[in-house]
Amino acid sequence: MQVNGKAYRAVGWDAGEQAVFWIEQRLLPYRFELVYSRDPEAVARAIETMAVRGAPTIGATAAFGLALAWRLEPARFVSFWLPRFRRTRPTAVNLFHACDVMEQAAEQQLSADAMVELACDYAAREVRANRRMGEIMAEYLAVGQRRILTHCNAGWLAAVDWGTATAGIYHLHRAGERPSVRVDETRPRLQGARLTAWELQQEGVDCCLQPDGAAAWAMARGEIDAIVVGADRIARNGDVANKIGTYALSLAAREHGVPMYVVAPSSTFDVHRATGHDIPIEQRHADEVLWMDGVDAEGELRQVRIAAGVPASNPAFDVTPFSHIRAIISERGVYEPPVE
Ligand code: MRU
Repeated sequence: MQVNGKAYRAVGWDAGEQAVFWIEQRLLPYRFELVYSRDPEAVARAIETMAVRGAPTIGATAAFGLALAWRLEPARFVSFWLPRFRRTRPTAVNLFHACDVMEQAAEQQLSADAMVELACDYAAREVRANRRMGEIMAEYLAVGQRRILTHCNAGWLAAVDWGTATAGIYHLHRAGERPSVRVDETRPRLQGARLTAWELQQEGVDCCLQPDGAAAWAMARGEIDAIVVGADRIARNGDVANKIGTYALSLAAREHGVPMYVVAPSSTFDVHRATGHDIPIEQRHADEVLWMDGVDAEGELRQVRIAAGVPASNPAFDVTPFSHIRAIISERGVYEPPVE
């Protein structure tokens, strides 16, 4: 999608440099920087530190990182690099899906170039899935559901290109349908404020930021036609793990009769987890709650402490039961919960 009028992807392969590149998401929206690397350890750290984040982007980044690892150290690929990447983040199943794909290819002794090609295909497949899911979502939204609330960043930064939740919004926008998006800030890391709002504005989509706590009230006031979010892992029974705060949105949505849609590629479905209770939920450091970063009036990046002398709980994800969701949309079709 567009950054200052030029097309970019969140992560990809630079054939000239023979390196993986990614957008350094921790600097957005203040600075736009591309990082290039041939070092698999740097790629693993980028996932761990959330320089790249969002379930499909994490998966694609791991695929590129493992292609680099295969080129560098094939002898340690299975014993060291696969576990190294699998440990980077626990909840988004796309990571493990990508690792499995690369592991199977390594078992077939693919050449270093073929592994890179496979990682490129992996990323391209995610982008095609996003585009298709977006077409399906746009059909739902075209039926008068143009005032859309979204949470976290399930946009192209999180999904290589197009986004999951945002793909339908971008399709509608390009068709001249004028969607209007309410963006939850998404404490504590502010993926909504810093990434989704930036993305939508780069594409010229009408949007407005709101504190997370304002979402239920916006629904109560009849200001929201639909909620559209992504997913980090979907259990066999349709329960959805997504950014913390998604479950609370689903409760308010039920109360106020607002349909909630989850948009996710098939790489986000985990047939090995029977229900949402089986999904590992990442607990992140308390400092993410106790500190904030941003730029001061001179444009200098600063960190400030916003609370002191108190412990903080910081679960990164929660689980929304399938019954709270109107439909899960993937590139393979639409899944609706059984009628209660
Ligand atoms: O912790 P993050 O920023 O990686 O969490 C991202 C989300 O929760 C997204 O909503 C999810 O990955 C869906 S992405 C297209």
